[in-house]
Amino acid sequence: MDRIAIEGGHPLHGDIPISGAKNSAIKLMAASLLTSEPVRLRNMPRLADTRLLSRLLARFGTSVTESDSAEGPDMRLHTPEITSSFAPYDLVRQMRASFNVLGPLLARTGHAKVSLPGGCTIGARPVDLHLKALEALGAHIDMHEGYVFAQAPRGLKGAELAFPFVSVGATEHALMAAVLAHGTTVMSNCACEPEISDLAECLNSMGAKVSGHGTTTITVEGVASLKGADWSVICDRIEAGTYAVAAAMAGGDVRLTKVRPELISLLLDKLAEAGCQIERGADTVIIRRAPDAPIRPVDITTDVYPGFATDLQAQFMALMTVAQGESVIRETIFENRFMHVPELGRLGAEISVSGGEARVKGMSELRGAQVMATDLRASASLVIAGLAARGETIVNRVYHLDRGFENLEGKLSACGANVRRLKGDSPVEEDE
Ligand code: UD1
Repeated sequence: MDRIAIEGGHPLHGDIPISGAKNSAIKLMAASLLTSEPVRLRNMPRLADTRLLSRLLARFGTSVTESDSAEGPDMRLHTPEITSSFAPYDLVRQMRASFNVLGPLLARTGHAKVSLPGGCTIGARPVDLHLKALEALGAHIDMHEGYVFAQAPRGLKGAELAFPFVSVGATEHALMAAVLAHGTTVMSNCACEPEISDLAECLNSMGAKVSGHGTTTITVEGVASLKGADWSVICDRIEAGTYAVAAAMAGGDVRLTKVRPELISLLLDKLAEAGCQIERGADTVIIRRAPDAPIRPVDITTDVYPGFATDLQAQFMALMTVAQGESVIRETIFENRFMHVPELGRLGAEISVSGGEARVKGMSELRGAQVMATDLRASASLVIAGLAARGETIVNRVYHLDRGFENLEGKLSACGANVRRLKGDSPVEEDE
């Protein structure tokens, strides 16, 4: 298994180009199942998760080709016919979002058998809302031996759906199923994440009739079929936010490019409160902090968009470990999202957790150590902490990082960080 070694104490200087959003790309890939015409996705991130989903889609009859264009990586997906609607456990368990193929398979063929998902171990993360939404759209759902069997032989039907609480995945799943349903669907208490709008707008470019995305009520007028698409994936606000925090932590002067600053507005405000200088351009953000300038403690509470993203909580906590005072970090989205706390503790951080609240006692410096990545965003927090820790930090199990960050070590090294990947067969690996 690969590891990442970071020698701390090197400020970051330079540009970091932001890739397309993982959380949008994988839903757009699933949405390509809704049409028999080709779908071209530009600005695609190259990630373990997109590779995994390509393998799953291939089982349904999708041809997937990747290439490079002036705009960056491209992916072309084409499913002239769905040859199988079976999504096996060994593929779905590796990435929760692959469960979202259920709705498109059902909408296009009238039946599907999809394994219940796995994914990051951040809380129980059930899919009850997804299934209730599909049932409300007329699907008959059975569950046996870890599989969902869904049927709608005469097609899905438009309905009124009121989500009992906000779920990004369930909103997207219901949206993808409703676009080919007979009649109108009105969904209330929807998530408003920008990736949902990206999906809705891509679907509209294919001939769907979706309105209200970006608000809590989305209306979908079903259409009989969709055409192909040529779509550029929205920038990854979580990747952008991660590098913004990395720049704050290491100190220096970093310019994020190909970014939409408004998507990380709250994070940038918090970084300014912590003592960074922030300059927002049209599609750039500069984050500056003199390496010896103090970091002020700042409290955060995660929330649904446009609140503070739970996917940036671990990274922000890493920064707060070296703040001049105590900060309070509240997690309200996932019940088990403090698994990075003991690992940050190995670097010397002092953090106490009670329920969904972590108290971080800032200290003057962290010390490098061996740590273990526990989930995708937690892994990023350990790399960020390593950038500022004295000595060497080795992050084990970096396959979590590869799921969601394209060329992380390359992007950081280009700004002067000393970050190296130790390949699985590296001699250092042997002492594990
Ligand atoms: C998506 C993102 C993830 C992000 C999260 C919250 C993708 C691929 N992943 O995850 O990076 O951290 O949004 O912004 O886009 N829940 C249920 N039943 C359900 C569905 C969800 O109880 O059927 C719960 C979850 O356990 C969680 C909460 O609802 O506690 C929010 O989850 P949700 O918004 O659905 O997150 P994901 O779509 O899984």
